[in-house]
Amino acid sequence: TPPLGVLAALPQELGDLVDAMRAEGTMRTVTIGRRDYHVGTVHGTPCVVTLARIGKVAAAASASALIHVFGVRQMIFTGVAGGVGPGVRVGDIVVGETLMQHDLDASPLFPRYEVPLLGHARFAADTGLSNQLAAACERFVADEGAALVERFRLHGARVHRGLIVSGDRFVSSAQEVRSLAAALPDALAVEMEGAAIAQVCYEHDVACAIVRTISDTADDHATASFTSFLTDIAGAYSSGILRRFLAA
Ligand code: ADE
Repeated sequence: TPPLGVLAALPQELGDLVDAMRAEGTMRTVTIGRRDYHVGTVHGTPCVVTLARIGKVAAAASASALIHVFGVRQMIFTGVAGGVGPGVRVGDIVVGETLMQHDLDASPLFPRYEVPLLGHARFAADTGLSNQLAAACERFVADEGAALVERFRLHGARVHRGLIVSGDRFVSSAQEVRSLAAALPDALAVEMEGAAIAQVCYEHDVACAIVRTISDTADDHATASFTSFLTDIAGAYSSGILRRFLAA
C-alpha cells in the first residue's frame, strides 16, 4: 500500500510525530531539494513525513515530491491558521472542505481567484479522508479539549468544517482581515499552504485533507498570538490529532 504523506510548515506543527516514527525503529530520512522526508511507520501505518516550510511554493514542491518520489496517494497537512469566520476563535480547529488562493488574481485575463487554465478557483479536500480527520479532531477535543482550554485560557476548542483560504501573506491587521472576510464571506481560516496542496493533489488525483488549529485571528494581535500559540500549544494539538488519526 502507498504511504500516507504528512506535511506541516514548521516543526511545532508536527508535534511529536517524527519522534514517534523514530521510536518505531524503522525510520530513514531522504533529503531532496533541501527538504528532509522521513520514511517509516507510525502506529504501524506507512508514512512519509516532511516539513514543507512556509508558503505556497514550498507546499507545492513538497506535495510534488511526495507524489512523484514516494508514491503517496493520500496526504494530510497539519498546522495553525488565522481565524477569519464569525465564531472561529483561538483554540478552535478547522478541517478544510474546500481550499482557495485568496491572493491569486490574473484578472482581467481570468476571473479573480481562478487558477489560470485549470478553470477552478476552489479545490475540494477528499471527503473520506477529511471525515476521518474531523473524527480524530472530535475525539481529541472530547479527551483533551477541556484541559487545554483551562491550561491556556482559550475560549473553547470547537471543530469547524468549510472553506480555508491560502496566500503568501501573514495576515496581521484588522483592516486586512476585514477586507478578506468581506471578499470571501464563507472563509473560516487563512493560512499559507493549504490551497497549494489541494491544487497539486487535484492535478494528480491524489486525496488530501487539511487540518488547522486557530492560533490567532489575523488582526493586529496576530503576531503575538501566533508566536505564543506556536511555542506553547500547537504541538499538543498536532500530536493529539495525528495520534488519533493514525491509530484509527
Ligand atoms: N497562519 C497562522 N496565522 C496566520 C495568519 N494570520 N495569516 C496567515 N497564515 C497564518
